[in-house]
Formats: sequence, structure tokens, C-alpha cells
Amino acid sequence: MSTKPASSRKSSVGKVHLPPKAFAAKARIGSMAAYERLYRESIKRPTDFWAREAKDLQWRKPWTKTLVWKAPFAKWFVGGKLNVCENCVDRHAEGPRRNKAAILWEGEPGDRRTLTYGQLHREVCRFANALEAAGVRSGDRVLIYMPMVPEAAIAMLACARIGAVHNVVFGGFAADAIADRLEDSGATTVVTADGGWRRGKVVALKPAVDEALRRYKHVKRVIVLRRCGNPVDMRAKRDTWWHDATAAVSARHTARAFDSEHPLFMLYTSGSTGKPKGILHTSGGYLTGTHATCKYVFDLRDEDVYWCTADVGWITGHSYIVYGPLAIGATQVMYEGAPNFPDFGRFWKIIEDHGVSVFYTAPTAIRAFIRAGDHFPAAADLSSLRLLGSVGEPINPEAWNWYHRHIGGGRCPIVDTWWQTETGAVMIAPIPGATPLKPGSAARPFFGIDAAVLDDAGRECPPDQEGRLVIRKPWPSMARTIHGDPARFKKTYWSDYPGLYTAGDGARRDKDGDFRIIGRLDDVLNVSGHRLGTAEIESALVAHPAVAEAAVIGRPDDIKGQAVAAFVTLKTGVGETSALKEELRRHVAGVIGAIARPDDLVFAPGLPKTRSGKIMRRLLKELITTGSISGNITTLEDFTVIDTLRERIGGEPTP
Ligand code: WT7
Repeated sequence: MSTKPASSRKSSVGKVHLPPKAFAAKARIGSMAAYERLYRESIKRPTDFWAREAKDLQWRKPWTKTLVWKAPFAKWFVGGKLNVCENCVDRHAEGPRRNKAAILWEGEPGDRRTLTYGQLHREVCRFANALEAAGVRSGDRVLIYMPMVPEAAIAMLACARIGAVHNVVFGGFAADAIADRLEDSGATTVVTADGGWRRGKVVALKPAVDEALRRYKHVKRVIVLRRCGNPVDMRAKRDTWWHDATAAVSARHTARAFDSEHPLFMLYTSGSTGKPKGILHTSGGYLTGTHATCKYVFDLRDEDVYWCTADVGWITGHSYIVYGPLAIGATQVMYEGAPNFPDFGRFWKIIEDHGVSVFYTAPTAIRAFIRAGDHFPAAADLSSLRLLGSVGEPINPEAWNWYHRHIGGGRCPIVDTWWQTETGAVMIAPIPGATPLKPGSAARPFFGIDAAVLDDAGRECPPDQEGRLVIRKPWPSMARTIHGDPARFKKTYWSDYPGLYTAGDGARRDKDGDFRIIGRLDDVLNVSGHRLGTAEIESALVAHPAVAEAAVIGRPDDIKGQAVAAFVTLKTGVGETSALKEELRRHVAGVIGAIARPDDLVFAPGLPKTRSGKIMRRLLKELITTGSISGNITTLEDFTVIDTLRERIGGEPTP
């Protein structure tokens, strides 16, 4: 470990930013020495560290054993009982935070609502009663398909309160994706809305649910929030309005205590096969991890106004809009709509209007703001900000520097947080009052997290050498399994190196021990910070009657990080028309959702394959990125396909 003062160090990407003195003076961890001390201790005895953090929560019954670890299956705080919702809502509503704002909500059209912890408590209790009246019981699965309105969080918390397992599906997913998740999770209840506002228009949600329910017949109750007033079909007996379901029920509800390992939610995420995985998270450990990271990484305090711009449909929305911030009693902004409605000044106006002090967003958004122009943030008063965060993909140093200067005014530390749906909470990130920041580096592991970069033989890589990112010890917020498929859980995450968690990301550490995450090593794309499996998009394409075969790759994109490029071989006799191209792109959006719509679609009379028939995606990637192939192609079965594709890419500007 270098003992030289960080200010004298230079890395290849430029300046190292030390925590501002005023920030460090107030922070929970105020120096690198304090971080190192606590980190060393936490790694020597992780269960002691986590047990101390878990005591910040309210337990109805104390645990008897902190960890039972039979790799890869963990149980944390065994024997302990708690109610997650009570921790996020009741304990604040019953104390001095009763009249403190929990959620400062802003709809896209400009409508606003404030929910204090006391009000949130009543709303959650009402909805918990409504769910119970609809027959929902502990352990039942509830699919939530909602816009970014307070009711999305209320529905999640109400599920947690009664022990039902929520499965939130991002509002941008299409009917097929909803049906797949209903089926895989075995859901009995759906909570949705008529629609939500996005870029000045109503995006209808209920019709997609109706379509999914024509395929999956086991849903007994659909509760529909009226948000936009767009007309929807309500099916008698099955469908009921939120306002009707909550009208007659009490605003009081007695919360039962659940086992620490009681399932809290499942959330589907893409992998390298066509079938998304239902990642399962449980109660006590998950809440401990999200709470502890809010405390140390965001250094959240009662006087903060925190804003995470994610959607509740992703893990970031679960951990850093709903569970972590509410568990710590924060005041947060929640915003329904698009960052560029009515223009690219919207976020900065929200920060000014609500006095946001801690702001957490994604690199893809930052790059879009850079392109839109500096005059947008310059027009707003951003002086309330004290800390910035980034998540979802590696943040390129140019975006980091812009964020630091134009949003943070050069005074706010940036915490670049690396984690995943599977990890539940932040794993690698700076501690803002302590860590010297290097643009583009996620810095050091969080307390209790034993992260390393290994080569193929399982040896730790020397400084600056790229390898696979692994976690060597269990942590409380880790996924417990893939719903219904523990064998896949084991195979996907725990079999590259026995007993170690493989994240699927490439990374390297520098000589100071700071991590730089390179990106996915598997067939998973990161499009605007969202995970998409190439196999998923390929299987959507081949499901179209005109398509014989498809190969999907990620192409570098200035704003999205990666864009989706699809190479499609049509069935014999089908004409290669631009209308069909459009239809296929629309088809993918219709099957998976708009985020998966291919940016480029190239008709390929043949795809490059090895002699054993494996599609060589590496060649397609090189071809679409550079326009030619320079690497080794000796294993290629038919050399002419490359020439044909090169001509097509050159001859066709991407649509
Ligand atoms: C994948 C996980 C974590 C919530 C959002 C995405 C990439 C995430 C970073 C970061 C570099 C990052 C990784 C990871 N990723 N954060 N700070 N730096 N890469 O959750 O959909 O589960 O995706 O996102 O590739 O494996 P997710």
C-alpha cells in the first residue's frame, strides 16, 4: 500500500481528487486511515462487522448465529426475526421522524406530492390490508408493474409487511416479458396502473398486463392505480381499482415478524441464456447490506435530500430508492418521468427546487447531458449538492470530470459504485470522506467485502493486469438462489473457482489496490446501464417467422455505452426489404421491450461460424466496430461470409 499522500500521485487518467476537508470533517469515515482500519477489521472478522451493522435495525427476536455458510448457500442472522417494512416505515413513523418527509414526489407533468413517514405508514398499512383482503398471504408472489409513483414503493413495502414476495417488472418491458415472469414466479396477484407519464405522453401499462394474463391464467386479482386517466379494460371480479381496494380498509395494520431468511423479493435479470433469472433476496441480510451502504457510501443523514434517478423496476430502485434510504430514515426525491422532459434542464431544476444534496445517477444519463449542453446545468442553482454517485456501467473519465465540474461544482466527491442485481448492495465504491478519487475507478471494496481479481488459473492478478472479478467471502445482501433453479445459481456464479462468487465482470487493480471495472466477460450487454442477454434478443428474433438465424452483439455507443447490433439470416425465399428490417426491430421491442430494440439490423446471408458451427460473435463485433477484421480467422468455416458482411456494413449506414 502506498503511504505517499494521494495528492502527489498521478494515475494514467489524470488527477487524484482528495475528499474536501469540510466533507471529511463531517463524514462518518473521515480519513483513509480510518477506512483501512475498519476494512482490515471487517475482513478479519466479517461476521462481527455485519452483526454490528445489523444492530442498527429493529429486530423482534435476536439472531442466534450470524452466518451459516454452506457454499454457495448462505443464511444470515439465523433465528432472528424482523419485519422489513416496520424497519423502513413504522420505526420512523413512531418517533421524531413522524412528520419528516419520506418521499418528495414529482410527476412528469409537474404535479407534486409529499409523503411524510407518518403518511407513508398509513398508506402502506392500507395497502397491506387491501392485499390481505384480496387473499394475498405470506410467501405468495405479487407482480408489480408500475410507473415511478409513490404507490410503487407503497406496494413493495406492503408486500414486505405481510411477507408476500414481490417481483417488480420494469414498466418498459413488454407483455411477453411480464407473462414469462408471472409464469416463472407463479404469481397470484398483479399490481399495476392505467399508465405513466413519459416524455409528455401516457405510456399505457394495463393493456400489457391484460395481454400477459391471456397467456398466464393463475392471477386471481389485479389492482390498478389510476394515474393518467387513460381508458382501460377492467375485468369484473379479477380487476379492482387501487382507490376502491383501499377505501374501505383500515389505516392500521399489525406487522408480523418474519424469519431473517424469509424471501423479500425476486427480480429477474438477464444472463447468457435466453431465459432471465429470478434472483432471490431475503430479509435481514438484504436490509443490513442496503442500510449499511447508505450509511457509509452515501453518508446519508437526516438533513439530506437524497435523489436516486433509477426506476424501481431495477435493483438500484429496490436497494437505493425503497429499502436502503427508507431504512435509514432519509428524505428522498422520487421523479416519474424522462430526464429530457420538457428539456435537458429537468433534473437540474428538480435538484434546485427540492434542494437535493445527494444525487445518484448513471453514466449513460451523464453522457446524454454532456451532449445536450452545459447551459442546462448552468441555468440551475446546484449549490445544495454535497455528494454525487454513479452506477450501472463503468464511468468514462471524461464523463466523470464533467459530472464533477458541471454538476458537483468541483466540490462534491463522486462515489462510483460497482454492484449487481445479485449482490443486492454496493460492493466496491469510494468512501466519500476518505477515499482519494481517480476518475473512472470504483476504488475499494466496501467493509466486509473480500473482492479480488483472478487469472484463469485462480491466481490473484498483479497490479494493472486484467482478470475476473470475484468475491471470496459471503456477505449479507448476497442473492440466496435463482428462484426454482439452485443448480443454475451454483453453475452461473460459483463454479469458475470453487467456493468463490464470480461476478461476470472483467477488472484490474492498480498498485494502490483500487479497482477499475472493465465490463462483462459473458454474452451480456450493458445498454444504458441495463443488462440484456444477447441470447434473449436472438431468441426473440428467431421467433419471427421470417428469421432463420440471428446473432446479436454489442457495439460501442457514445451515449448508451453499448448499442444492440443484430445480424439476421432470413429464411429462404424471404425478401430483404427495409420494411422487414423495421418490422424485426419492432418485433424485438414487442417481445422484450423497447430497451432491447436493435439499433442496427444487418441482413446476413451467412454468419461467421467455426467448423463446429459456433457463431463467432467476436468477428461480428470487430466488423461492426472497425469495419474490418484484423484478428485470427483461421477457425472460420467459410471466409466469404465476412466479405459479404463487410460490404453490407460499408454500403449501409446504420439505421
Ligand atoms: C452489471 C450489473 C448495480 C445496479 C445497476 C446494474 C455493471 C454496475 C458498475 C460500475 C462498472 C458497473 C457491471 C455489473 N456495473 N455498476 N459502477 N462500474 N460497471 O445492475 O443490471 O445487475 O448489472 O452492471 O457489468 O456486472 P445489473
